[in-house]
Amino acid sequence: MPRQKIIVTGGCGYIGSHTVVELIQAGFRVVIIDNLSNSDGSALEGIKAITGEDVPFYMIDSGDKNAVSEVFSQEGRIDGIIHFAAYKAVNESVEFPLKYYSNNVKGLINLLECAIDHDCNRFLFSSSCSVYGDADKLPVSELSPLGEIRSPYARTKLMCEDILRDLSSSDTQMKSVVLRYFNPAGAHPSNEIGESPTINASNLVPVITETAIGKRPEFTVFGNDYDTRDGTCIRDYIHVSDIANAHVLAIKKMLSHDYAQPFDLYNLGSARGNTVLEVISAFEQVNGVSPNYIIGPRRAGDVIAVYADNSKSKNQLGWNLKYTLDDIVRTAWQWELKRSRKK
Ligand SMILES: NC(=O)c1ccc[n+]([C@@H]2O[C@H](COP(=O)([O-])OP(=O)(O)OC[C@H]3O[C@@H](n4cnc5c(N)ncnc54)[C@H](O)[C@@H]3O)[C@@H](O)[C@H]2O)c1
Repeated sequence: MPRQKIIVTGGCGYIGSHTVVELIQAGFRVVIIDNLSNSDGSALEGIKAITGEDVPFYMIDSGDKNAVSEVFSQEGRIDGIIHFAAYKAVNESVEFPLKYYSNNVKGLINLLECAIDHDCNRFLFSSSCSVYGDADKLPVSELSPLGEIRSPYARTKLMCEDILRDLSSSDTQMKSVVLRYFNPAGAHPSNEIGESPTINASNLVPVITETAIGKRPEFTVFGNDYDTRDGTCIRDYIHVSDIANAHVLAIKKMLSHDYAQPFDLYNLGSARGNTVLEVISAFEQVNGVSPNYIIGPRRAGDVIAVYADNSKSKNQLGWNLKYTLDDIVRTAWQWELKRSRKK
């Protein structure tokens, strides 16, 4: 039987590149679409180093209908799409909301139209726990009510989820699954791929590693007067390879011959909540390096605490987490050291 073929948009980016590796290792063929707006293409070398495969790569925008249609025409049958390509900086989305609506929502609509035109009817979408807003009850499950949306970025994710849900009750054959990521972090254990944004990182773990290596003089912990164990915000950090693996499980499930669910969604989190200070402390203990940081005021838009109930993903996808918080901070640091040696 020929290997099934998956288009991965944003496959040169952080989570996309890790997922491409897992897909290839699980026996899929992969085609990458990426416009390199937040990556430089170097992940393609890392993917080759790990898997031995040269992955077909189209440097195009997911919102460019002609270009995406051309990919479908050139590549022949496509069994499914995993759509990572999006802008993701929460703060930037507050400043430039239209940039986010245009890229994130238009890109999704365009891909769906192209997929339907080419009889591809399995679609996996990257969403975010930011759609839960400030949750009343923790952990949050897929059935938890959605709180107040705090940023245009989060709203683009919710809009995309709604589009997919609407599509599932239309007369197309499209079946979609939404994966809501908590806080992906860490790097591939091979140290061949990791997080290499071309736009300034704003997530905690890369900010810690960039400070520890000296790219930043210090970083700010936004608020230590929250009602949490040590006053800092709580998040659910999940290793990027565990996230990637969940995509393989989800797409396999969607491609099984008896799959009938038009729309579904899953939380991808570790079910552990860690404070900002706990992550810094884990980084210091595991790597023996102490980054400079200061305590600053609370940051607008930050939710106090969120972590996942991941039982649905475990039970229905058969997802088992391989990595711990210590693995996250160790692999992230190894990757930062490698990146700094390259420059
Ligand atoms: N990293 C996180 O913390 C996190 C958390 C929740 C959800 N997500 C979502 O996961 C997905 C992947 O995130 P990531 O961390 O890998 O981000 P990333 O920026 O590393 O990767 C995204 C990739 O998509 C590309 N891209 C962006 N817009 C494009 C477009 N219009 N056409 C083609 N390529 C385009 C970028 O060049 C980049 O390579 C995004 O949808 C993001 O919103 C990420």
